[in-house]
Amino acid sequence: MKFLAFSGSLRKASLNTAVVRTAQRLCPPGTTLEVYDRLGLLPYFNQDVESVQPPAEVLDFRARLAAADAVLISSPEYAHGTSGVLKNALEWVVGGGELVDKPTAVVTASPSMTGGDRAQAWVKETLEVMGARVLPESLPIALATVKIRDGQVTDESTLGDLREVIEALARAVKEQQQA
Ligand SMILES: Cc1cc2nc3c(=O)[nH]c(=O)nc-3n(C[C@H](O)[C@H](O)[C@H](O)COP(=O)(O)O)c2cc1C
Repeated sequence: MKFLAFSGSLRKASLNTAVVRTAQRLCPPGTTLEVYDRLGLLPYFNQDVESVQPPAEVLDFRARLAAADAVLISSPEYAHGTSGVLKNALEWVVGGGELVDKPTAVVTASPSMTGGDRAQAWVKETLEVMGARVLPESLPIALATVKIRDGQVTDESTLGDLREVIEALARAVKEQQQA
């Protein structure tokens, strides 16, 4: 089973990037998780460009999504929404349809008390309209600066929650394969 994960933050010390990197080591046996870290290289979405020839970087991103059985997204919250880079990346995928029926989980990590829950609702709505199978197990991580250290989630309870999200993704893939 193959998962693809990406963070909506380009910041070197990003809490959200730490979440997807931690998810890599929490995967159950028989599952691999690739962290896609080139969101910042995707050009701004332009429908004119897409309709003629999507750029190579976009085609590569779409191919990785298509090859994945499930997707994990960790998003920052900026001004109660998601980041421009994440929204931009999702715009490139609307036309390709690579997320249609794809089990997808959303995590948000924020130093705030709310854990980025508004960005989470926002990303979920976008994914749903794109036809992704958005899991209810998605997770907001509040007070993330005390739960994430040196690029890894360190808080035991959050690690448990993240493991549950990954297991839910694996279950959703299995259900889909058996249907
Ligand atoms: C421009 C900007 C807007 C922000 N807006 C919010 C917000 O609306 N809600 C929130 O919880 N945190 C907000 N934050 C704080 C971010 O959650 C925090 O910087 C977080 O660490 C960003 O994610 P990252 O660590 O993955 O880069 C904002 C930060 C910036 C720079």
